[in-house]
Amino acid sequence: MLRRVVDWIDERAHVRDLYREQMVDYKVPKNLTFPYVFGVLALTTFAIQIISGIILIMYYKPLIAHAFDSTNFTIMREISFGWLFRHIHAAGANFFLAIVYLHMFTGIYYNAYKKPRELVWIIGWVIFFVLLMTALSGYLLPWGQLSYWGMVVTTEIPMSLKEAPFLKGLLGAIGETVSIWMKGGYKLEDLALGRFFGLHVLFLPLLLMILVGIHLFLVRAAGISNPDGYEIDKKAEPEKVVPFHPYMTLKEGAYAMWYLALFFFFVFFHMSHFLPADNFEPADPLKTPPHIAPEWYLLGFYEIFRSIPSKFWGFVAFNLSLIFLLILPFLDFSPIKSARRRPLFFIMFVVFVISAIALTILGTMAPTPTNAKLGMFFTFTTFLFFLSLPVISFLEWGWYKAKGGQS
Ligand code: HEM
Repeated sequence: MLRRVVDWIDERAHVRDLYREQMVDYKVPKNLTFPYVFGVLALTTFAIQIISGIILIMYYKPLIAHAFDSTNFTIMREISFGWLFRHIHAAGANFFLAIVYLHMFTGIYYNAYKKPRELVWIIGWVIFFVLLMTALSGYLLPWGQLSYWGMVVTTEIPMSLKEAPFLKGLLGAIGETVSIWMKGGYKLEDLALGRFFGLHVLFLPLLLMILVGIHLFLVRAAGISNPDGYEIDKKAEPEKVVPFHPYMTLKEGAYAMWYLALFFFFVFFHMSHFLPADNFEPADPLKTPPHIAPEWYLLGFYEIFRSIPSKFWGFVAFNLSLIFLLILPFLDFSPIKSARRRPLFFIMFVVFVISAIALTILGTMAPTPTNAKLGMFFTFTTFLFFLSLPVISFLEWGWYKAKGGQS
């Protein structure tokens, strides 16, 4: 029966040809390591977020008088399995960002951002940025104490422009306008909640879907890199590649199963990590909680902003760290790819990973003078990684030419 249905569709849409062309004739390198699976795990989590989000949106009410109750009473207690979908969505947000960070570190380690994959990286960066905006806007929706105060701190960040040492009037006015625009007024109220709701449930997910589609198209166009960093000529070196299906599909499918097992272990047994107790208290604009820190995935950037004594320069450094990530393919112009074959790059990569982890940990801690100094130190080492890339590339070009163009 199924065969006849497929035959019927195939006669009209030639789906078998498409399948053969995209799944079997499409070849991938044989030597892909475990970290190459993170792209597919990100895709899996994206699907989880869309499905659980659709369920939640049916019961959520985006008005400050109802938002808290609709999340914590209607969804958590009244709707069958509402609690499960909320748990899945909240854990999914954290898993999504964790996987995307791992995917980015993999790309950096194997230098997958280099020619011919610069566009894959740039679109990836845009996805990362939009994903952070999606997480930020979603965090406000339950209208708990942490949601509210987290957003107060975030919407105040552009105000740092008021402390600019130059063009104070102009930059200050821009900062204030952006901050008021984000809040929809001087205080966070219905207008802001409605706006963040619209962004979170429609605009940003749609944008993400389009961007992920472009990202995948570009990965197909450029071909997946490989851990050794040599580009494979699929026609001349057929022994180095395997068909995408069944080799990659089975391997990635198996990892996706393990990933889902881990994911649901957290969903059922360890949700307190993702739904902190403080957020089960309704937002109160008159009661500031003692510790307000952003979610873990923003802490590294937050610590860069906070560790620099001047708010303005902190704001500049925070933006610069994002920009350096974006222009990575142009900072690192060495002809040699993959940290496996680049000892200097490998050392700086380790410095970068340690700095990113240290900044994230420091972001959770009180801003004592010692912590502020440590924050400044790791901000410096983070920037050192980016700024060392042109120097390493220059040296490696020298070695490359000395070897007669052999890498
Ligand atoms: C929703 C988020 C994302 C999804 C679903 C996604 C998905 C994928 C998939 C399926 C691949 C191919 C297989 C692989 O190497 O894993 C891939 C490759 C790639 N992605 Fe992403 N990605 C996402 C975000 C990002 C981000 C944020 C960046 C970087 C800023 C990025 C950079 C790359 C690069 C450079 C490659 C090529 C890897 C290679 O050829 O070795 N991606 N992505």
